[in-house]
Amino acid sequence: MNDNHIGTEELGHLEMIGAICHQLTDRMSPEEMRAAGMGADYVDHGLGIFPQSAGGIPWTAAGIQSKGDPITDLYEDMAAEQKARSTYEYLLDYIDDPDVADPIKFLREREIVHFQRFGECLRYVKDHLDNKHVFYGK
Ligand SMILES: [Fe+2]
Repeated sequence: MNDNHIGTEELGHLEMIGAICHQLTDRMSPEEMRAAGMGADYVDHGLGIFPQSAGGIPWTAAGIQSKGDPITDLYEDMAAEQKARSTYEYLLDYIDDPDVADPIKFLREREIVHFQRFGECLRYVKDHLDNKHVFYGK
């Protein structure tokens, strides 16, 4: 089993994204914010960093799933990693600045590694569960 702590690394990713957003907006005027399509963000948060989806939905802990079943939770984790990877890929479609694109590419690669590690955990759990689950056919 891998001894890395993916959740801790994800918090580091949040910090990296926040730092990138801060560096890109730190010196913007209200007019520049509006011209960039960020007028509503400026009204609600000034130049502060506020975690939200591209659609403006604020981050909440409600997005964190846990059923207490290791197989269910690991599949959820793997899906979350793929959703993060595809989000980074879509972001890269809009990014020309290599100083922004390179860290996004790094983060995209880490999501792939996380997906692989959760997959390894899933195989381990399937092999070691006392109570066999019928839905994976073992
Ligand atoms: Fe991840």
